[in-house]
Amino acid sequence: MKTAIIDLAYLLSAVLFVFGLKRMQSPVTARTGNALASLGMLVAVVATLFLQDILSWPLILGGLALGGLIGVALARTVEMTAMPELVAVFNGFGGLASALVSGAELAQYASGDVYGFGAVTAVTIALSILIGTVTFSGSIIANGKLSGWITGSPISFPGLRVLTGLLLVGAGVAFGVMVAYAEAFPTLARPMILAALGLGATALLLGVLLVIPIGGADMPVVVSLLNSYSGLAAAAAGFVLDNTALIVSGTLVGAAGMILTVLMCEAMNRSLANVMLGGFGGGDGPAAGLDVPEGKTVNETSPDDTAILARYADRVVIAPGYGLAVAQAQHEVRELADQLEAQGIEVSYAIHPVAGRMPGHMNVLLAEADVSYEKLYELEDINPEFSTTDLAIVVGANDVVNPAARDDEGSPIYGMPILNVDDADTVVMIKRSLSPGYSGVPNELFYADNTKMLFSDAKEAVAEITDAVKEMEEA
Ligand code: TAP
Repeated sequence: MKTAIIDLAYLLSAVLFVFGLKRMQSPVTARTGNALASLGMLVAVVATLFLQDILSWPLILGGLALGGLIGVALARTVEMTAMPELVAVFNGFGGLASALVSGAELAQYASGDVYGFGAVTAVTIALSILIGTVTFSGSIIANGKLSGWITGSPISFPGLRVLTGLLLVGAGVAFGVMVAYAEAFPTLARPMILAALGLGATALLLGVLLVIPIGGADMPVVVSLLNSYSGLAAAAAGFVLDNTALIVSGTLVGAAGMILTVLMCEAMNRSLANVMLGGFGGGDGPAAGLDVPEGKTVNETSPDDTAILARYADRVVIAPGYGLAVAQAQHEVRELADQLEAQGIEVSYAIHPVAGRMPGHMNVLLAEADVSYEKLYELEDINPEFSTTDLAIVVGANDVVNPAARDDEGSPIYGMPILNVDDADTVVMIKRSLSPGYSGVPNELFYADNTKMLFSDAKEAVAEITDAVKEMEEA
């Protein structure tokens, strides 16, 4: 009876996960999707806690209270721009938790409580330790690169690839020993534990060495890939514990993370192998200040002049990027759009799939400012519209509008689809300097004839443009 109820509860949670994921496909339904998936997890946790023989309530409640407190504190204090770093840490701890759970099963085996599991269980324990530990150390390095306590530049040294290869072989040997040993000596635990510790230590180093040679600009892809790994580690732990809910949720996380990783690579027109081995991107590009390179000319503009351009336009497209997130200019941008729309000017938003630093970054920020989803256009929908656009206002975007990705075959970002803002009659680019974007690749758009640079913090500039538009109406 108890088993039937648990099975039913796990089935219900699996269904809720799937419907939740389905609803996350669109920003309009994402909130309810999130709620459905959370409910699924609650059902699974409650069924596990109350119906399976999980012991030590004080430990469980203590863990819940501590974890809950840390989670609430982080959710309240972490800036939106620091979300990818936080997600990296979450993935890392998810992986570590799976590895520890499998390690605990092994320890229980060693204490004599469980006798003789065979090769299949050994495979799942070893997989969970290997993937979970790689995920942990790799995620901590990804966090360091994103938050700046490790350089964003690719780190390499002579022999790095050889060392990585040796560690891979070492991990393979430890894995093989665990499996073969479980089959041959199912009741002698000590050597098995030694092999598991060896596997964990090797995987820990492997995670570090796999992520340090990757440039800071690619960290969001790495975080997504590690998210997928954390799911696989959890699924492996689910097999160890024979827990269906963990197997299902881990597999879904693994698959969703992998799909997101592939989508991000496609949006940058790069293969996953190129991301992992390419050493591309060095964190923040060199600060260029306002020094115009020899032979180039910059057309500078002001908020007042931009207001005049906007006020006399029929159609305005706003292209937001990472700078919008840094400046937290989303509310000011919506106010400007409201003001222009009140004068009968059509305003839309051009959303590049990798604008900002995390998937859906721009959608989340604009949703926070109550911008209607209907006004957000994806790259392939908005690009044909730029040729009939009077004014494109680029708010803190850089790489995602860099024509080098389209026109310069020698450029490291060549092939990445971009927003063709330069097809508009006039482009106003709001940023503080002539610095390149996160990829470090110089942007010729700054010097184009139809581009006007508005050097300012995005929030201040957009607010000043809005004020100037208002003044024009009142005059
Ligand atoms: P970036 O190319 O990084 O450019 C952002 C620009 O914002 C900078 O050039 C900066 O110029 C400006 N900025 C910073 N703070 C500002 C402020 N307070 N006010 C105004 N401007 C400010 O951003 P993007 O165009 O959004 O491109 C995203 C990059 O991240 C791409 O290279 C993409 O491949 C990479 N990436 C993203 C993702 C996801 S999932 N989003 C995943 C992988 C890689 P100043 O310093 O001159 O102001």
